[in-house]
Amino acid sequence: MYFLFYFICVFGKIIYVCTLNISIMYVIKHIKDVKIEIQKFTDQKKSIGFVPTMGALHEGHLSLIKRARQENDMVAASIFVNPAQFNNKEDLKNYPRTPDKDIESLKKTGCDLIFIPDDKEIYPEPDMRVFNFGDIDKLMEGKFRPGHFNGVALAVSKLFDIINPHRAYFGEKDYQQLLIVKALVKQLNIPIEIVPCPTIRESDGLAMSSRNRLITEENRKNVPIIYKTLSRAKELSTKMSVPEIKKTVISIINSTPDFMVEYFEIADCNTFFLINDWAETKNAIGCIAVYVSNVRLIDNIKF
Ligand code: PAF
Repeated sequence: MYFLFYFICVFGKIIYVCTLNISIMYVIKHIKDVKIEIQKFTDQKKSIGFVPTMGALHEGHLSLIKRARQENDMVAASIFVNPAQFNNKEDLKNYPRTPDKDIESLKKTGCDLIFIPDDKEIYPEPDMRVFNFGDIDKLMEGKFRPGHFNGVALAVSKLFDIINPHRAYFGEKDYQQLLIVKALVKQLNIPIEIVPCPTIRESDGLAMSSRNRLITEENRKNVPIIYKTLSRAKELSTKMSVPEIKKTVISIINSTPDFMVEYFEIADCNTFFLINDWAETKNAIGCIAVYVSNVRLIDNIKF
């Protein structure tokens, strides 16, 4: 039987979280300390897998850690609620934060190092860089959350530079973000393999998200309608045109009390060009954003 006995020792500025099997997880706040620890792994020619997160971890995040664990000698994660990617101050303020629980689950899942910087550590000065991802960031999340992907790119490029991993793991729930990160590493010649990982769902189909804990009990009962409708749309795609499918999905979800679709679009999985006819691509993806009262959820389905 595996007894977990956590004890936390503070040596200098690095916290070591240990368990009885004497594995150590580094919990580090400062860039210079992370770089020192990472260098030790690099010197031993160990491969590094990295999972950037904004905390409030759920099974979806932990599945990324597990995958990174399988494919690398060492696994690093970051917890940083990146202010640059929030275009709404209230959303940033309400974003769930559960650092102690996160540290515990990361340790249990086999993470070796957690980087938990504060805002000043990542942005000692305002980062004025402006990225251009062409059409990918002009629609869907990019259209409804202006500046969001630029903010993601600012944080991710800094985190990549600090951790310098061989592979970085991103969930397909944030499909557009995944494409943006792939474009980012290409544009900047960053030699990191971006590994897409499947969306993890609750048993009723709801895509796991840190925001799910903000959904009221009343609304929670109806939330499975989102993935059910996407799955139905996939079934119907052999019989209905793209515009018909779009109209049907939006009207079913909007007829649920407190639900309001912000967008539902169908695009090519790789280029993210919107399609109007199934013949335009063999790899279509339907992406949706829905307000459930004031909680904004996103999901997608590959056709
Ligand atoms: O998906 C997220 O949690 C964030 O957008 C990320 C990739 C950690 C960048 O802040």
